[in-house]
Amino acid sequence: MHIVVPKETWPRERRVAATPDSVGRLKTLGFTVLVQSGAGEAAGFDDEAYVAAGAEIAADAAALYAAPALIVSVSGPQTTDAAALNQIPEGSALVAMLGREDGPLKALAGRKINVLSMNGVPRITRAQKMDALSSMANIAGYRAVIEAATVYPGFFGLQMTAAGKSPPARVLIIGAGVAGLAAIGAARSLGAEVRAFDVRPEVREQVQSMGATFLEVQLEESGSGEGGYAKTMSKEFIEAEMALFKEQCKEVDVIVTTALIPGRKAPILITDEMLQILKPGSVVVDLAAQNGGNCEGTVADKAVTIHDVTVIGYTDLPSRMAGVASEFLSRNIVHLLEEMVGDEGFVIDAEDEIVRGALFVHDGEILPPPPRKPPTPKPAPMTGPTTGPTPEPATSSPGPVVDGAADRTRRRNVIIGGAIALVLLLIAANGAPDSFIQHFTVFVLSCVVGYQVVWSVTPALHTPLMSVTNAISGIIIVGGLLQAATGEFDAAAWLGAAAILIATINIAGGFLVTQRMLQMFRK
Ligand code: NAI
Repeated sequence: MHIVVPKETWPRERRVAATPDSVGRLKTLGFTVLVQSGAGEAAGFDDEAYVAAGAEIAADAAALYAAPALIVSVSGPQTTDAAALNQIPEGSALVAMLGREDGPLKALAGRKINVLSMNGVPRITRAQKMDALSSMANIAGYRAVIEAATVYPGFFGLQMTAAGKSPPARVLIIGAGVAGLAAIGAARSLGAEVRAFDVRPEVREQVQSMGATFLEVQLEESGSGEGGYAKTMSKEFIEAEMALFKEQCKEVDVIVTTALIPGRKAPILITDEMLQILKPGSVVVDLAAQNGGNCEGTVADKAVTIHDVTVIGYTDLPSRMAGVASEFLSRNIVHLLEEMVGDEGFVIDAEDEIVRGALFVHDGEILPPPPRKPPTPKPAPMTGPTTGPTPEPATSSPGPVVDGAADRTRRRNVIIGGAIALVLLLIAANGAPDSFIQHFTVFVLSCVVGYQVVWSVTPALHTPLMSVTNAISGIIIVGGLLQAATGEFDAAAWLGAAAILIATINIAGGFLVTQRMLQMFRK
């Protein structure tokens, strides 16, 4: 089939849906590729680069849409422009990042154009490589921090000079989804002290492993909803988190808000009163601006100053890094098309879970979203290792910051474990020889202490922990050798041999896992 790549027509759109690199991949899938002249110019890809990659160039839209084709686009055609829409031949298919707004979908359905929206790709493990929303949110989170850094009148990182020192900027990230985690990574790599809040308690460890402090409110309500997204929170919870943010406004210099529940208007979390509390020169970057904004006074696509605070509401953050955004998006699109190309060529198989999620319009009919499946965890963005000062412990944060549900669960497990250990000791003490009770007591205590030690370690430190367990396994091997080398084939010798075997598996496995983890960080 024929793929056409139009020049984007929406204001502020600088990305392109196919880069020269992706043209090569599309050709391998058996497509011929026709690119509208100048389509990649704003993203840094000229016509010559497309020709070198094997594409043909169409001088204008008329030449591009000469026959029905598979159109790959970033934002799709401007459906209110009847002339532009009528240029697209009936029976074409469109792959673009479209929302579920009725108007554009009706217009496209009216022209019998099948619509596959990258926004509809389900957040399931198999579809991670096609998740364009996450790719773009990752860029937006990073860029939000860069935009903040350009207007913030101070250093982000700690500065020590002969004239004195300047403390690191304090950055608050609200919403630790894909964009929020990328913002944490960027702010930490600039050296800022970062704290973050999210309604989903399961992101706590991701936030902490990126070097930020996770803030919590004193209300037991989880915001985890379906599909890895948040659910709407109670009025009490929103009030509690806003009380937390009000306290934080006395301290922080930069706030990045990303709080959103898909399909809903963004909740207002930073009020005009909070903007007055923030220090003059502070910056708020509102990523939810396109959905109404998380901050009172946000103006979409503008940077405004309210009470000496700059409030940035740009909705084109990925487009401000058009080259890399186009690379990411075009790869996501190629992966979706790989899913759809088989022996019979390009087929829209509505039975395929990923295709069904992305399929918004089929054979002139607007399809409702498919029912959601249980959530799978979202990937954390692959940001580089962070530098800068070590974050302060959570206790340094003011306001209603308290132990979370994870700590309560751990305490409960310890009590249950202790009770089981006591019962086992009492049973064993009943008529057993003294030497057995001594060894058994040591065994039970080491289980309790071992559990405490291992579960208190944050996931980021599990690799060094594995080295420690390897050292312990080494001691076990020495003990096992002493038992097994007595020359007698009694129970102790067999137990010693078993201990050598299990400890060896632990050591070899530890090295293998560590090796794999290290490879993840190598270029
Ligand atoms: P996401 O769904 O992965 O993350 C949103 C996070 O907000 C979730 O972790 C959720 O639990 C959290 N959240 C929801 N309600 C909350 C509340 N009341 N308080 C605290 N946290 C809350 O979404 P993603 O992909 O990270 O995108 C974040 C935002 O960035 C969205 O609003 C999206 O539209 C926007 N975006 C903006 C762009 C721009 O150029 N301005 C570009 C790309 C995305």
